[in-house]
Amino acid sequence: MQTTRLPRAELNMTQLDIVGLCGSLRAGSINRMALNLVGRSMPQGMTLDTVELRDIPFFDGDVLAKGFPPSVLALRERIRKSDGVVIATPEYNFSIPGVLKNALDWVSRGDDQPFAHKPVAILSASPGPLGGARVQYDLRKVMLFMNAQVLAKPEVFIGAASGKFAPDGSCTDEATRNFASDQMAAFQRWIAGVQRMALA
Ligand code: FNR
Repeated sequence: MQTTRLPRAELNMTQLDIVGLCGSLRAGSINRMALNLVGRSMPQGMTLDTVELRDIPFFDGDVLAKGFPPSVLALRERIRKSDGVVIATPEYNFSIPGVLKNALDWVSRGDDQPFAHKPVAILSASPGPLGGARVQYDLRKVMLFMNAQVLAKPEVFIGAASGKFAPDGSCTDEATRNFASDQMAAFQRWIAGVQRMALA
């Protein structure tokens, strides 16, 4: 098995740089509101920078044969230099929205794919009662293939989500706010553990 050993200087003990990805492009997306919520709920020492997927072209092996398009290269490099990735996504037809799956397919190519050993946290929001529970297990399967280190728990499924966010994006539901901050506290500990394992 290939392991990644980080030189001590590469460990960022004080500030964790987290990339956010949203599986919805919609301006009024409840998943974007959920992603912003976890960004606001991060403990001290973590910051969220959301990267837009709108400019990622459809995956095409003929294009790849000539090299990664600039938007894909930028996404790969941004993920590579981050300390972790948070993905907030809707569930489409019980599975992963094409926008997100397409971006992950691009990023997964090449021996140096940047999700290898990368800490990842997943959450989903839906107007339905299950909060996108099914998409999360499909997404976990995809991240497993890419050797990502996906946080197991706490899982965050925001059901009936349309009623839990105000039009300005603020979260009006205390339980959801608590789930978000609990998950980010666990993610901070998870990243520290993954980084220690890489050093061992
Ligand atoms: C949906 N929606 C949906 N919801 C769900 O809980 N399970 C599902 O399988 C689906 N399937 C589905 C397919 C497609 C094509 C669309 C457009 C929508 C509803 C979905 O959760 C809802 O539209 C969310 O508001 C989408 O997320 P954003 O854009 O608000 O983040």
